[in-house]
Amino acid sequence: MASAIDPHLPALRTRAAAAMEQAYAPYSQFRVGAALLASDGAIIAGCNVENASYPAGTCAERVALGAAVVAGHRRFTAVVVCTEAGEPTPPCGICRQALAEFGLALEVISVTAKGSEARWSLVELLPHPFTPSQLHSR
Ligand code: THU
Repeated sequence: MASAIDPHLPALRTRAAAAMEQAYAPYSQFRVGAALLASDGAIIAGCNVENASYPAGTCAERVALGAAVVAGHRRFTAVVVCTEAGEPTPPCGICRQALAEFGLALEVISVTAKGSEARWSLVELLPHPFTPSQLHSR
């Protein structure tokens, strides 16, 4: 289905693929790149950064989110994730929650290096997020 982010997709794909090339994934060998589209049209990328203490590793989506926030972006319309997997892979649960913090109206597009693509809405991937309003509902 056509979407407002479609004109941005070629650049998002390029940035996500380039970020994937920078992935530091010596343990899993599973390289991931992510490119966030901010509401002003800026694109901010991230890659996964693993660690010898495995749980200290960070996913590409959250690296991109941190880079975006430090650059002053808090509103996003889409994220493109790029991997070398056989099929497009959705963001992990922690990344779904991290992305939800900044709005549920996010299109999530996953592409493979070979060109397959899948699309979801963030709400579809995380129908019951924990939200700031719940934190203050005591
Ligand atoms: N990974 C991501 O970067 N994003 C995801 O959405 C799924 C998993 C990374 C984490 C780890 O470095 C590697 O992929 C294998 O799980």
